[in-house]
Amino acid sequence: MRPRRGHIVVVDFGGQYAHLIARRIRELGRFSVIVSAAQGREELEREAEGASGIVLSGGPGSVWEEGHDWIAEWAVSSGKAVLGICYGHQLLGKVLGGRVGRALKPEFGPTPVRVVREDSLFDGMPREFTVWMSHNDAVLEPPPGAEVLAESPGSPVAAMRWGDRVYGVQWHPEVYHSEWGMELLDNWLGIAGAPRTWAPGDLVGELVEYVRKEVGGSRAIAAVSGGVDSTVAALIAKRALGDRLMPVFIDHGLHPEGEVERVTKLLRRIGLEPLVVDASDKFLTSLKGVVDPEEKRRIVGRVYGEVLRDAARELGAEALIQGTIYPDVIESGGRPGADVIKTHHNVGGLPRDLGLKVVEPLRWFYKDEVRAIARVLGVPREIYEKQPVPGPGLAVRVEGEVTREKLKIVRMADAIVREEVEKAGLSGKLWQYFAVLTSSKATGVKGDRRSYGYVIAVRMVESVDAMTARAARPPWEVLERIAWRITSEVPGVVRVVYDVTSKPPATIEWE
Ligand code: XMP
Repeated sequence: MRPRRGHIVVVDFGGQYAHLIARRIRELGRFSVIVSAAQGREELEREAEGASGIVLSGGPGSVWEEGHDWIAEWAVSSGKAVLGICYGHQLLGKVLGGRVGRALKPEFGPTPVRVVREDSLFDGMPREFTVWMSHNDAVLEPPPGAEVLAESPGSPVAAMRWGDRVYGVQWHPEVYHSEWGMELLDNWLGIAGAPRTWAPGDLVGELVEYVRKEVGGSRAIAAVSGGVDSTVAALIAKRALGDRLMPVFIDHGLHPEGEVERVTKLLRRIGLEPLVVDASDKFLTSLKGVVDPEEKRRIVGRVYGEVLRDAARELGAEALIQGTIYPDVIESGGRPGADVIKTHHNVGGLPRDLGLKVVEPLRWFYKDEVRAIARVLGVPREIYEKQPVPGPGLAVRVEGEVTREKLKIVRMADAIVREEVEKAGLSGKLWQYFAVLTSSKATGVKGDRRSYGYVIAVRMVESVDAMTARAARPPWEVLERIAWRITSEVPGVVRVVYDVTSKPPATIEWE
């Protein structure tokens, strides 16, 4: 289903940049895949078959430490266009016979570069601009036969060209802070001759066909949660299978207030009538006495799998449609084509052996691409703009052991946070906003009496992709009103605190 010709292979050397590069390339209308440098030659060659170009991405290491030379040599000898970025640039410098060593001065953050030679890599761009760098080493002398294209205060070879189709840049054109980054990438994609054919919204027909083929003549269930990924996957499967698809919504008893009704109503509106399986007793019993967050995730995942498997048996289904997306596939070490069940971003890891064939129509897509498909399929805004709820739900928003009493408290507090944030018109600016029931207790006075009760933490964050996040700065009055309402309406809570920590170093969720 994914394009096998004209795509771009991004080799990941273990830095944090590969996904960003791959996404930018897709934003520019070309399909891209990530291959880890650790995956070996065979995998690289397989993925590069039919590709227009190879990007050697940034990485945390030094080119002197690791045995990656063969990758740069392989890329150069493939005859395809090559773009080395940061570490990739230095690796090219090294294997082509240039001199790589300590930069004249390390460059971190905004750095001016100056173009010293005209080249189509810089078409439409000014001769001087500011880019984002992050390096200690640099290419100090160009390889024989290479042209120096740009320089910066710390990098005498900030950009170079070797032959017609091999380029290297010391800076990171993929990060937002680099000026002219998208233009540079687009120019290189032009040089590579990569066809501008990638438009996820146009792929609905092919995705439907893919599911039809994978499921064959059997029945399937789709685990739906109300999130955009599972909804889009289920809608595609519905088109493919009609009545042979049964969407299943598992009520684990860990959902926020009103979530089950809200989600089922929305899904019904788009023709997905879900079977709601109330398994809350089973989940709560399994969570009894468990305090470790990862253990809670694992338990929720395991029980979720069991409930799904039982539902599938009852419905006579042999396949499971899952909304796994590309970062999940790559991060769980999955190779394209292998069967990987998403872990973190679902419910903490479904058991591998569910006895169901797992079909993942969205395994090639990034989140914003899934949103584009959602728009084409007519998914209501409420679904694709909804704040994410972690798979294990409120189990990870009650610190320590999950009990019915604590769930009730966090649910009530959370409903107040939502209500006040939405009433104040802040929800559009926030990635997530919620309440956490901490494991602390504190003293308060209620009705002239000293009381000793729970502490609720309120978290509101701004983020683009949940990889990093900043604590939001809501108006003080909104926070005060939330605190006042929670302490007066939720029994047992005496204090409300606001979490001002960003991610990193904190995470978005408390557990
Ligand atoms: P953290 O807490 O790691 O969260 O900063 C990043 C994003 O992931 C969500 N999250 C989860 N989603 N299962 C999920 O499906 C989980 O176990 C899980 N833990 C965190 C979190 O809500 C945030 O959007």
